[in-house]
Amino acid sequence: MGASLLSSTAIFRVMFIVLNTLWLFPELASSAGVTRHYKFNIKLQNVTRLCHTKSIVSVNGQFPGPPIFAREGDQVVVKVVNHVQNNVTIHWHGVRQLRSGWADGPAYVTQCPIQTGQTYVYNFTITGQRGTLFWHAHISWLRATLYGPIIILPKKNVPYPFVKPYKEVPIIFGEWWNADPEAVITQALQNGGGPNVSDAYTINGLPGPLYNCSAQDTFKLKVKPGRTYLLRLINAALNDELFFSIANHTLTVVDVDAIYVKPFKTDTILITPGQTTNLLLKAKPHFPNATFLMAARPYATGRGTFDNSTVTGLLHYETPPKSSPSASSFKNLPLFKPTLPALNDTSFAANFTRKLRSLANSQFPANVPQKVDKQFFFTVGLGTNPCPQNQTCQGPNNSTKFSASVNNVSFVLPTTAILQAHFFQQSNGVYTTDFPATPIFPFNYTGTPPNNTMVSNGTKVVVLPFNTSVELVLQDTSILGIESHPLHLHGFNFFVVGQGFGNFDSKKDPPKFNLVDPVERNTVGVPSGGWVAIRFLADNPGVWFMHCHLEVHTSWGLKMAWMVMDGKLPNQKLPPPPSDLPQC
Ligand code: C2O
Repeated sequence: MGASLLSSTAIFRVMFIVLNTLWLFPELASSAGVTRHYKFNIKLQNVTRLCHTKSIVSVNGQFPGPPIFAREGDQVVVKVVNHVQNNVTIHWHGVRQLRSGWADGPAYVTQCPIQTGQTYVYNFTITGQRGTLFWHAHISWLRATLYGPIIILPKKNVPYPFVKPYKEVPIIFGEWWNADPEAVITQALQNGGGPNVSDAYTINGLPGPLYNCSAQDTFKLKVKPGRTYLLRLINAALNDELFFSIANHTLTVVDVDAIYVKPFKTDTILITPGQTTNLLLKAKPHFPNATFLMAARPYATGRGTFDNSTVTGLLHYETPPKSSPSASSFKNLPLFKPTLPALNDTSFAANFTRKLRSLANSQFPANVPQKVDKQFFFTVGLGTNPCPQNQTCQGPNNSTKFSASVNNVSFVLPTTAILQAHFFQQSNGVYTTDFPATPIFPFNYTGTPPNNTMVSNGTKVVVLPFNTSVELVLQDTSILGIESHPLHLHGFNFFVVGQGFGNFDSKKDPPKFNLVDPVERNTVGVPSGGWVAIRFLADNPGVWFMHCHLEVHTSWGLKMAWMVMDGKLPNQKLPPPPSDLPQC
């Protein structure tokens, strides 16, 4: 008895040393992070959905595209080779890109497109982020088929600040057109009307059984009773915010846009294009003798038509080993369906977003800028451009073209990259630095819209000195209808310090701002008929795009760029571009 106790202690000691060695060395080696190499071959691939086969632009023939895995602190190197006729760029949505702006990816903003036969190597390091992000094409509407997850794990041996999940599952929402999405947006920009809406939404590329000819293409998640799963949700749809729910299961939100949040429980989540949400799903303790539907459908506030269909997937439980014959067949099990909010449930949207809070503890502080150097007030919304002579248009009044703007400036992409023009001091004819900090003609933004809805068109940027602390109020307008706009900022996370309905009140609203634990993210929904206030520190030199992540609004000009200058110290400067940076 005594002898066996001794030997087991000895074994324990040996194991302890072995384990310690195994744990210590990778930690030492990985404290600076490792380099992860990927190759993206951009090529055509035939894909069939809803009984329509079409040739899509893909990465490595995969749809959705391959995931990128990294730990916080890792360097990611992706060699992109363009084998298709389209010009291509890839954006690493939400990656901070500290002093690596050349790798950000928006076409004509940080780089010229990668042309047919060309190669460009994106090289960046993931700093201070853990959770889920995604990559997508950033030119025209190619991101309809060119997108995939970015999975960022904590540094080695650093646990999650929540229960360790048994498994992790990416759930990436997309939007499917039976037609070629490039033809859809080209035609819409030609005639000035709204583009044709999509034919389906997808979960991991699969539309699910509620669509015609689609039952075979259903995402299925099989779980074990009692286990906890981490669902990594990504909204890669082009034009639609989505509600998501799983029948009879409560979800716990733990991370958004690769930043941990104070966990909270909910039956339904809202996710805008450009946002990501990590959820814990706790499987029921015992085999439930049922199958559960997960479903997503839009939250839509605008006046235009939209795809009001529903994508579904299945959550089923592994059958117990000694199960009854009836329980062993999923087909005979009852199917529970979730109830989702109404398509225009703006109060759900407001209540849900108010629950999102930063962890704001010593390990994960919320570094909210407490003082503000520069304030900006941007209106965001729709507008019109005149119809060219000798053409008929299908925009508002059938005599104009749809447009969209920030402070009534509809952004026009230049024919060369802004960052390149800036870096080599050749801004002439590319961009001007007079983007208005506030509207030039103020009006009652959410009241009766003005008669003149025409926008101005231009390539204007805001110049920010290094380390400027910025407060920006984004105000929706009622021009051609109020609408929620998911605004995405490249190069930074921002803190959402306030939001409200109606017009922002610069006296009454700021005292109510949350400067303690506001959520930190890269994409925020500007409430329909309301405003949102964000703060960020401009500590990253480069040219940083900001735009509505509803792709149709970006196409119409709801975009602008911040130009953040170099600081004085060498480590505050933007290095020169890599030698393979594409030229226009
Ligand atoms: Cu996800 Cu500029 O975009």
